[in-house]
Amino acid sequence: MILGIETSCDETAAAVVSPEGVILSNVISSQAALHAPYGGVVPEVASRRHLELVVPAVERALDDAGMTLDDISTVAVTEGPGLIGALLVGLSAAKALAFARKLPLVPVNHLHGHVAALYLEPDPVEPPFLALLASGGHTLLASVEARGDMTVIGSSLDDAAGEAFDKGARLLGLGYPGGAALEQLASGGDPAAHAFPAAMVGRPGHDFSFSGLKTALARAVRDGGGAPADLAASYQAAIVRALVERAAEAVEATGAGTLAVVGGVARNSVLREAAARRCRELGVRLALAPPELCSDNAAMIASAARFITPLPFPDYLSRDAYATVA
Ligand code: KG4
Ligand code: ZN
Repeated sequence: MILGIETSCDETAAAVVSPEGVILSNVISSQAALHAPYGGVVPEVASRRHLELVVPAVERALDDAGMTLDDISTVAVTEGPGLIGALLVGLSAAKALAFARKLPLVPVNHLHGHVAALYLEPDPVEPPFLALLASGGHTLLASVEARGDMTVIGSSLDDAAGEAFDKGARLLGLGYPGGAALEQLASGGDPAAHAFPAAMVGRPGHDFSFSGLKTALARAVRDGGGAPADLAASYQAAIVRALVERAAEAVEATGAGTLAVVGGVARNSVLREAAARRCRELGVRLALAPPELCSDNAAMIASAARFITPLPFPDYLSRDAYATVA
């Protein structure tokens, strides 16, 4: 059995996954309420809370799976990218556990983890496919040729899509984290009320840009631009249009037969529906992970570890976390 640990941002997560990709437990201790008064994640506060939560999360993951450490043969942990102090807590906990039990350790790239959510049972997706990863920290398009292997073909030049949701939510007074709250407010609004820009659509390449959109919303709010629900719906529609159209362009350019959408923003039902519609038009398959596996969790990290050669005991002790991908 694989024990997965994830502490890259503000969720302290632990999971037990079988080598075949069956989730036996998936514990997520969210710190969202702790950071809400600050309007965003405070890195040092996150690290301290991970320290308090990581061992209880591992204990509960083992408990929920009906297992003990004796049943664990591999420890998998997010090594980066993410908040460096937060990552170090999970990595140190994973090293300590693996070392004490003389187990191998698999350091996992968080972004590969998001994609590997698609390889979990009961409905695993088989590469090749084109992946749209939209989270709070990253937005990118990648060609996935094989499990454990992906080539990034485009990414955001400024804000990530989730960041755009969070900043939009803040401008609309919705608090943190804002993606789900903005979706909720938007559900009662008119997406055609405001013509917000869907940047980069139709341009060469496969990159994204969301900072201009945020400025457009800030201006509309400043100018007293109408009902909050209409602003939210129009803003969400612009993010979704940019994501889906850029993904569609990449599907056509690469000839991919399947588009997969992953990352926290893939929880958004308007995005899920728009992607489904566009894929039908294109005649390609759409692959979506269940919403709860789209946002940060440790089952996806354990899943990714199945396709990476483990570092044998005790070769991993000098491994270091990384905040950004070089
Ligand atoms: O993948 P994730 O959990 O963490 C990162 O790796 O960043 O993504 C978190 C992001 C946040 O920006 C959050 O606002 C966004 O996903 N998110 C959503 C929704 N649920 C979460 N964005 C839009 N609609 C949602 N329903
Ligand atoms: Zn993430």
